[in-house]
Amino acid sequence: MTKAVTHSLDARYYTDPEVFKIEQDGVLARTWQFAGHSSLLANTGDYFAFEMAGENLFCIKGRDDVIRTFYNVCQHRAHQLVQGQGTTRVVVCPYHSWTYELTGGLRAGPNINAVEGFDKSKICLTEVRTEIFLGFIFVNLDKDAKPMDDWFPNARKELEEWVPHFKTLKPLEIVEVPENCNWKVSVENYSECYHCSLNHPTFATGVVKPETYDIQPQGHCLRHTTECQSLDDMTYDIHSGFDHFDQYSSWFLWPMFSFQVYPGNVLNTYHWRAIDADHVILYRGWYSVDGAEDGVARQLAIQDRETTVEEDIHLVESVQRGLKSRGYVPGPLVIDPKSGVNSEHSVMHLQKWMREAVDGEP
Ligand code: FES
Ligand SMILES: [Fe+2]
Repeated sequence: MTKAVTHSLDARYYTDPEVFKIEQDGVLARTWQFAGHSSLLANTGDYFAFEMAGENLFCIKGRDDVIRTFYNVCQHRAHQLVQGQGTTRVVVCPYHSWTYELTGGLRAGPNINAVEGFDKSKICLTEVRTEIFLGFIFVNLDKDAKPMDDWFPNARKELEEWVPHFKTLKPLEIVEVPENCNWKVSVENYSECYHCSLNHPTFATGVVKPETYDIQPQGHCLRHTTECQSLDDMTYDIHSGFDHFDQYSSWFLWPMFSFQVYPGNVLNTYHWRAIDADHVILYRGWYSVDGAEDGVARQLAIQDRETTVEEDIHLVESVQRGLKSRGYVPGPLVIDPKSGVNSEHSVMHLQKWMREAVDGEP
């Protein structure tokens, strides 16, 4: 019996604004999303606000050193609480100055004692599930969501081995890359290396050995591994003194974040923010000890922006135009039972997760 060939997703998943709307609930509001780096919240009362899945949220550090995330909305009559980033002793609403503790409980409000039966202890900001993963703050709007270690088995343990100095790291540079394509086009492109040797000469000859590139699912993580090109030819000194210094690996955490470690234990990240059906912003983050100037990371950031990232922009934007063509019929994915670099099994896994998020569980 011949096995049915797996075809790529229908174009409407990438172009239809209705599908994008469904994704706001089906994906963005039910998965772990990156909020910011914990170094932004070094001290008690430090906070920053951000948007996610159409919601305004903020993270804030409590007196107990716990980072919490709340919907950025007052429980009185719904005014927004904080903007941008800063430090505060208590959270004060700008409308009628109700004040909240850093743990979210209502502390005081003008004249509330005049209200008979007003029970302050019943009023609290609405908290959002928050996890710190390798110093990165992730949030999940689904209060019943499974913890990140269930979604991404072993990823935390592995990353702590590959980036043993992660507690000392801060962002050195965040490169913002707007792409005129659906977020899934960009994520799929990131998640296969079938296109690498033809399109990424620098990456494929200077960093990795494409013939050894492999991507395997690990729960909802896609784990990329490869051997490196001759390490003597590397353009920087990779001898960091840590284990795994001579390896490259990455951990893509469904749906919109990836940790990459370059030889020399250089941590860098991919983070996507979906704007609408046709637009996504990709953020490339580069990290160094204390965020201090670091020639290697800076040089890699520039090289990566000018080569791999630039090359990918042209690919994904061409695909987005093609997906809108009446002449496009979704083609078969090239799935090699032995996996390997010239196989799109990783895209098959992604598309299964994408379909489940839009059409419901299978
Ligand atoms: S809406 Fe916040 S104090 Fe009234
Ligand atoms: Fe690429």
